[in-house]
Amino acid sequence: MAMWVFGYGSLIWKPGFPYDEKLLGFIRGYRRVFYQGSTDHRGTPAFPGRTVTLEPLRGEVCWGVAYKVSKEEDKKIALEHLEVREKQYDKTLHLDFFTDPTSATPTVCGVMVYLASPDTRTNMNYLGPAPLEDIARQIVQAAGPSGPNRDYLFHLEDALNTLGCEDAHVRDLANAVRRILSAESTC
Ligand code: SIN
Repeated sequence: MAMWVFGYGSLIWKPGFPYDEKLLGFIRGYRRVFYQGSTDHRGTPAFPGRTVTLEPLRGEVCWGVAYKVSKEEDKKIALEHLEVREKQYDKTLHLDFFTDPTSATPTVCGVMVYLASPDTRTNMNYLGPAPLEDIARQIVQAAGPSGPNRDYLFHLEDALNTLGCEDAHVRDLANAVRRILSAESTC
């Protein structure tokens, strides 16, 4: 049986594992939020960055991409890769994935989704909500082994725009970061 993996953050633009098929679509009942602290990719333990996780919210949908991995050897490569990369995400869910907003029938049942929960007993890096300007300032300042935190945000914004999926939280945050950067450059 094929394995499906849903990407809603960096997995959208950089899966990093072999796959046979990629579908644009969404999961229901969640929204994408920059609430997860990153000390291993886009920040450091001394100054965490912020990456996306999913917040359960009735009536919301989160657009992204689902990757189909069929071959046994590819599944092993994908799982080994994801185990390291998503190690700060403490929950793995299996959710229905939809491609047609007008249909209640899932295109794929049980796509694998990595989620960073607000339970600080299992997710010590959870940061949670904060005013938009504070999140933006943190993103401007943070950088980690995978690069500046702002690049993560701008890549995500670009990837979502390329897919034709506007996300107000990502757009507003990217605009706030650009405002801070342009104010800094004129000082
Ligand atoms: C994802 O891309 O789906 C998970 C969050 C991330 O790695 O950015």
